[in-house]
Parts: sequence; structure tokens; C-alpha cells
Amino acid sequence: MKSHHWVISDAEGLPEHPAIIQAAELLKQGEVIAFPTETVYGLGANALSEEAVSKIFAAKGRPSDNPLIIHLHDPSELTQIVSEVPAIAEQLLAAFAPGPLTLILPSNQRVAANATAGLSTVAVRFPDHPVARALLKRCGLPLAAPSANRSGKPSPTEARHVIEDLDGRIAGILDAGSSGVGVESTVLDLTATPPVILRPGGISRDELEAVIGEVVTDPALADENAAPRSPGMKYRHYAPDAPLWIVNGNSIVDIQERIVAEAKQHLLEGKRVGILTTTEGKAYYIDQLNNSDSLIIEVCGSRHNLPSVANQLYDRLRRFNDLDVHTIFAEAFPLTGIGTAIMNRLNKAAGGRHIGL
Ligand code: TXA
Ligand code: MG
Repeated sequence: MKSHHWVISDAEGLPEHPAIIQAAELLKQGEVIAFPTETVYGLGANALSEEAVSKIFAAKGRPSDNPLIIHLHDPSELTQIVSEVPAIAEQLLAAFAPGPLTLILPSNQRVAANATAGLSTVAVRFPDHPVARALLKRCGLPLAAPSANRSGKPSPTEARHVIEDLDGRIAGILDAGSSGVGVESTVLDLTATPPVILRPGGISRDELEAVIGEVVTDPALADENAAPRSPGMKYRHYAPDAPLWIVNGNSIVDIQERIVAEAKQHLLEGKRVGILTTTEGKAYYIDQLNNSDSLIIEVCGSRHNLPSVANQLYDRLRRFNDLDVHTIFAEAFPLTGIGTAIMNRLNKAAGGRHIGL
């Protein structure tokens, strides 16, 4: 199949933009469309149609036991797909919708069974991106939409990442430049008391607690052996092709000294080494390690601005694939604010490989 490529360079004229009209029409016909959200690019299809949803799983190569997030335009539409809206959900939506928060609620079973992988609950979110909102409004359908990457690859934060993974496998791609946050939404299970964070993301635990009081984190996020409650969390994700090690330490100096020691060893053995650092770290590595073709340093935002790290993380992980490195060393980040989501994704990319813990 030939995928449409539409570029929307200006939010002006949405939702009457010809690209939105065409994409919405294809969604209504049961096709699959990639579109930008404020977190990452999503791969959308009519959530009420089993046949349309099955095309998402096929295009991504996604395991069928991993349920999808349903995207809606407005909280008033929630009762179309959930059987109950608890007061706590209302409070959260008033504070964070539209935005990078996904709520797990009891399903009224109207969403196609393959979208929820047969569960009695459904994941819902209201994306805060003008193109996503225009598309939802124009097609008037709940859209099931996982991240628009091939399963196992880092999530796409640019349309070119989607093209890399899915061109020719889907009906179209709406390109509106970089997505904003860079990591996916926070997934919060409201069917448990207190609510449980199943996936850390764009909204931090502190922000949630400021609105609804106690929130706990799924123990499976910390313990490799615990059974995850969010089916998607059990899969190796976001993975670059080369093994990635997270390097920890008591301070950033400590972390960087360890990375230099590791990198020296690998370079001596004639291997190509990748280092994931921030704008603050690059000069130190160049100074300590000879700047040869075998040393690939990728800079990911600023350590003093963790949202900037989140924003670039997946793009930098993808770059290492193109650069053919043998091993990657990544600096650990503090677990504050969006740092929790950054470390969760790095952990998955590392498949649990840590140095200095
Ligand atoms: O930011 C985002 O959330 C992006 C954009 C496109 O909206 N979407 C996204 O979708 O990250 P996906 O499919 O890559 O991740 C969905 C996560 C998975 O971990 C899945 O297991 C979990 O949500 N999930 C979906 N339905 C669930 C349910 N009923 N109960 C528990 N977890 C659920
Ligand atoms: Mg995903």
C-alpha cells in the first residue's frame, strides 16, 4: 500500500485542513492513520471496529494480548466507552485533560474486543495536540492508538521515525513536526484504591497526588520478577540494536568517570562505543577519550532541564542504530519529575543492564 504523507506546518485552519478531512475520511473507512500527539506519534484506527483495530496490530507487529489506549476529543464523550466515571476521574480530567494522562476505567464493552485485548477495563486519554484534536473532532470516532512504531522500536517523536518504521504499511501519516513531551502518557489505574501508576509518563506522581491524594506505583515497575498489571510493560521496548548499559553513581562526576573507564576498555578492544550524555557532558568525554571514529557521543537535552532530555530521548536511541555501535553507555538521571519516566524507558532499553548500582 502507498501511504499518504501530509505535512501540516501551521495549526491555522484546523480542523478544516484538507489533510485532516482526507485522513478523517480514511479513518471512517476503517483505515489506519499515524498522527502527532503531545507525547509521541500515535497510530490510530476506529476503536469501535474490530477489523480496523486489527490493522494496527498487523502494521506494528504488536502482540495481541497488549491492549491499546483509546483517544477521545472531549471528556464529555467518556460515557461512550466506559461504564462508570468515578469522582476521582472527574477531578483528574478537570486538572489534566487534555494532556499526557491515560486513565484505566471499567469498559462498557462498546470498544472492539481486540482493542482492549479482551479486558473488562479500557485505557482512555485526551491528547493535547492541535492536529490530534482536529482529527478526533473531524472523524467523530474514538481512536485506538498505540505509539506509531514497529513493536520493540523506540516510540516515534518525529514523522520521519514513523516513515522509517511503517511507510507502506498504513494508509497515511500526518506530519506536524516534533511531538512535544517525547515520552508517552502516564497510565493510571483508577479501578484500584489507591490508584496505581502502571506506566510513568508526562504527568508525574507528585502532580497527580496534588489533585487526588495518595497514588501508588505498580511494584512491577521496580521489580523485574513481579507480574505487571499493564500488559504492555512486560515486553522489551524502546530497544536500540546494540546492548545499552545504564551507568549509575553518587554524583554526575562519579557517573562520568565510570563511563570513561568502561569506554576506554571497549575502545582498546577495537569496539565502537556509544555514549548517551547531555550538553553538559560532551566536552568531558572528548577530553578524556580520544575523539576517534570509534567513539559516538549523542547529546540528549540538558541535565538541568529534564523535560528537554525526555523530548530527545527516543530520537537519540534511534540514532545509535544508524551509527552501528557495539555497546552504548547511558548516564543515569535523577528520579524527580519526568526523570522517573526517562529512567523507566532507559531501563527498558537497557533490558535491566546496570553498572554502579
Ligand atoms: O502517550 C501515549 O500514551 C501514546 C500516544 C500515542 O497517545 N500511546 C501509547 O500507547 O503509548 P501504547 O499502546 O504504546 O501503550 C499503551 C499502554 C501499554 O503499556 C498497555 O499495556 C497499557 O497502556 N494499557 C492499555 N489498556 C490497558 C488496560 N485496560 N489495563 C492496563 N493497561 C493498559
Ligand atoms: Mg508503545
